[in-house]
Amino acid sequence: MINAPLPRIDLDEELQELLIKYCRLKHGDIWKDPLGKHKVGCFDVTDKSKLKKLMSNEKASLAIQDPPYNFIAFGKKKLEKFIDWCKEWVNLTYDHLDENSSMYVWLGADQSSHFQPLPQFMAMMEAIAEGGFGSKNLITMRNQRGYGTQRNWMSVRQELLYYVKGNPIFNVEADYTGIPKILKGYYKKVDGRETDNLERGKSEFIRAGNVWVDLQQVFYRIEENVNGCFAQKPLKSIQRIIRASSNENDLVIDFFSHSGTTLIASEILSRKCITVDIDPIYSEITIRRLERFRETGKTGWQNSNPFYEEILADKKLRKYLLDRYDIKIKREKIKN
Ligand SMILES: C[S@@+](CC[C@H](N)C(=O)[O-])C[C@H]1O[C@@H](n2cnc3c(N)ncnc32)[C@H](O)[C@@H]1O
Repeated sequence: MINAPLPRIDLDEELQELLIKYCRLKHGDIWKDPLGKHKVGCFDVTDKSKLKKLMSNEKASLAIQDPPYNFIAFGKKKLEKFIDWCKEWVNLTYDHLDENSSMYVWLGADQSSHFQPLPQFMAMMEAIAEGGFGSKNLITMRNQRGYGTQRNWMSVRQELLYYVKGNPIFNVEADYTGIPKILKGYYKKVDGRETDNLERGKSEFIRAGNVWVDLQQVFYRIEENVNGCFAQKPLKSIQRIIRASSNENDLVIDFFSHSGTTLIASEILSRKCITVDIDPIYSEITIRRLERFRETGKTGWQNSNPFYEEILADKKLRKYLLDRYDIKIKREKIKN
């Protein structure tokens, strides 16, 4: 086993400077998959003309958006500005979606800063709904591990909004058996003994509903973990969305790529993906994650990191990680 973690790259400007030279995209660049399936753009996604060029008249069946909340391009913005900014990329999403299509939006909160944009986001969507997106559902994904302080309820939920344009497909059978029955109740006497619905039911599972309790949160011990990233969504959650709301060979778009989860899920499920990240480092990680998956079948870097080879060859980078984080990266045998 190799053990070569990376700290959160977004919080460390010096580390960003050391890594940037290993990134193939500069602002405004587009990476085209040599196999002709996917594209990765590196720019601010609200730049209409760059987005138009990236999309090159293709329309998507599905958009999966996971915007940063509280900080946009690493500068804090107030709630009102955040919602105005959301409106911009929501309208752009609409423009690049097919007439019958779906949009899912992950919307986080930062309780410690009293930042909870969900109601304002929903109201904004309502206000622009006429002739636009129709709201379909609000899904809650439950994390196993929470975060927070002793002075508040632990945060274990992630909200996922589901909107439609026109009348898109919804494949209800897509992930039928994933969600376990967990709630006891509906007591009834059977042979004189009190039984609950879990005992009586024939199946251990329920049809996929709008509370997801069966998905493993990403953390350092699972294969899909991408060291250096901080906001990775579970691959299975994105696969569930893609299976339910698109067909094979459809185009999926994601304006906030980060670790490239939507791209990997699209590759696995035979969809095409066009994705964007404003940051050249996350754009590079997105491309490398796909390349690694194609070479090894692995979905992340559980015990390593996307820049492992460069770090080994770069004395300055190695010294920085050691001095600043006590991370010692040395060559070890990698078993693929
Ligand atoms: C919450 S993360 C997305 C996580 C992703 N779903 C995953 O599973 O890895 C948000 C990403 O949006 C990027 N971003 C922030 N502002 C952006 C903008 N204006 N245009 C494009 N990308 C942006 C950030 O660099 C960050 O990588």
